[in-house]
Amino acid sequence: MLLKTVVLLALVAHVLVLENGLLRKPPMGWLAWERFRCNTNCEEDPKNCISERLFMEMADHLAQDGWRDLGYIYLNIDDCWIGGRDAKGNLVPDPKRFPNGIAFLADYAHSLGLKLGIYEDMGNFTCMGYPGTTLDKVVQDAQTFAAWKVDMLKLDGCFSTPKERAQGYPKMAAALNATGRPIAFSCSWPAYEGGLPPKVNYTLLAEICNLWRNYDDIQDSWSSVLSILDWFVDNQDILQPVAGPGHWNDPDMLLIGNFGLSFEQARAQMALWTVLAAPLFMSTDLRTISAQNMDILQNPLMIKINQDPLGIQGRRIRKEKSRIEVFMRPLANGASALVFFSRRTDMPYHYHSSLAQLNFNSSHTYEAQNVYTGDVISGLHSKTNFTVIINPSGVVMWYLYPVRKLGTPQH
Ligand SMILES: *[C@@H]1O[C@H](CO)[C@@H](O)[C@H](O)[C@H]1NC(C)=O
Ligand SMILES: *[C@@H]1O[C@H](CO)[C@@H](O)[C@H](O)[C@H]1NC(C)=O
Ligand SMILES: *[C@@H]1O[C@H](CO)[C@@H](O)[C@H](O)[C@H]1NC(C)=O
Ligand SMILES: *[C@@H]1O[C@H](CO)[C@@H](O)[C@H](O)[C@H]1NC(C)=O
Ligand SMILES: *[C@@H]1O[C@H](CO)[C@@H](O)[C@H](O)[C@H]1NC(C)=O
Repeated sequence: MLLKTVVLLALVAHVLVLENGLLRKPPMGWLAWERFRCNTNCEEDPKNCISERLFMEMADHLAQDGWRDLGYIYLNIDDCWIGGRDAKGNLVPDPKRFPNGIAFLADYAHSLGLKLGIYEDMGNFTCMGYPGTTLDKVVQDAQTFAAWKVDMLKLDGCFSTPKERAQGYPKMAAALNATGRPIAFSCSWPAYEGGLPPKVNYTLLAEICNLWRNYDDIQDSWSSVLSILDWFVDNQDILQPVAGPGHWNDPDMLLIGNFGLSFEQARAQMALWTVLAAPLFMSTDLRTISAQNMDILQNPLMIKINQDPLGIQGRRIRKEKSRIEVFMRPLANGASALVFFSRRTDMPYHYHSSLAQLNFNSSHTYEAQNVYTGDVISGLHSKTNFTVIINPSGVVMWYLYPVRKLGTPQH
C-alpha cells in the first residue's frame, strides 16, 4: 500500500512541469535575507552590510568549509543590491557596495564551483523600495541577468496588482527561457495570493517556476517556524502533491546558526524542512557559525534524505493527544524518513508506537538509522513495539529501510 502511494504520487508529480531541466532536487545554498536583511550601512557595519564583500566572504566559506561539497552551491543575493537603472533602462547595482558589478560576483562564484542567485520584484518597487521589474521591463531584466551569468532569480511580488503578477510571472518564465541561459526561477507569487486555490493555480506554477514561496517570511523565532509548519500541515492535502523534481514548495530559509532557536529547535527545523522536501537555504553568518550548528546543517544522511531522487514531499501522518506528531517522507528504494516531533514543553516524552500503527502494513523487516545519533535499530517488523524519547520542541528522526522481504522465494 505504501508502495502504491509512492507510485501514484510520483505519477501526479510528472504531469506538465517546467522544462528547463533545473532543480531536480531541492536547491541548497545560502540566501542573504533572513540574517542580513537590508543593512546598507557599510560605513558603520562594513562586515555585515549588503555588499560585494559580504557575498565574496560567504562564497569563500561555502567553498572552504565543506558546504559546497555537500551540495550547498547557491550563493543568493536578496533585496537591496540595486543602485538604479542606467540611461538605457538596464539595472545596475549600487556602485559603492558592488563596485565590481554583478558579473564579477557571478564569475567569482563560478570560479569556486558555486552558482549565483539574484533578486528582483514583479512590480513598481522591490519590497524595500528599490526599482522593480514592471511588465515593460521583464524581457530587458531577464537579458541583463543572463548577460551577468546569473544562475537563479528570486522574483518577489511587492508593489503590484494580482493582475500584473498573473501576467508578469509567466512572462518572466518565458523571458528567462528565451535568454538560452539555464536560470532557476523562484516565484514569490503564491505568497501574495494567500497560497491556496482558487487564487493560486499550482498546476500553472509548476509549469513556470522551479520553486515558490507559498506563505509568510520566516523570522528568527521558534514561533515563526511553528506558524509556517502549521500552515503547511493544515494545507498538506493541497501542497504535498504539487511538489516534485524541478518544482518545489518553499517554506523559507533555515534559521540554524542565528539567535532565535534552541539546539533542539534547530535540529527540529532541519528535520522538518527535510521531510517537507524543502529547499535548504541557510541564512546565517558562515564566518562565525558554531561547530554544533554546522553539524546540524552538514549531516550527510539528512542531506541525502532531503535530496532523495524521488522528490516526494512528506506529510504529517499522526497528531497525538500527547502533542507528539509523526511525519513521513517516502524515499527511493522502499526507504522512508520518519520524524517524531514533540510540541510539548515539559520534559522528554516516551512515545510508544509500531510501524503498523504508522501505516506500514508490509511483511518487510526494517532497519532504522537515527539521523542525528547514528544509532541503528534492527529487526523492526510492522508489529514490533518501539519507544522513542523526544525532547521538548525537538525531534527524533529515522531513516527507515527494508532489509528483507519475508516469504519471498530467493533466486
Ligand atoms: C505602479 O506605478 C504606476 C505608475 O506610477 C501606478 O499607476 C500604479 O498604481 C502603481 N501600482 C502599484 C500596485 O502600486
Ligand atoms: C526553454 O524551454 C524549452 C521547452 O520547454 C526547453 O526545452 C529548454 O531547455 C528551455 N531552455 C532554457 C534555457 O530554459
Ligand atoms: C491552471 O493552470 C493550468 C495550466 O496552465 C490550466 O490548464 C488550468 O485550466 C488552470 N486551472 C484553473 C482552475 O484555472
Ligand atoms: C494499515 O493498518 C492500519 C491498522 O491495521 C490501518 O489503520 C491502516 O489504514 C492501514 N494502512 C494502509 C495504508 O492500508
Ligand atoms: C505492543 O503494544 C501494544 C499496546 O500498545 C500491545 O497491545 C501489544 O501486545 C504489544 N505487542 C507486543 C508484541 O509486545
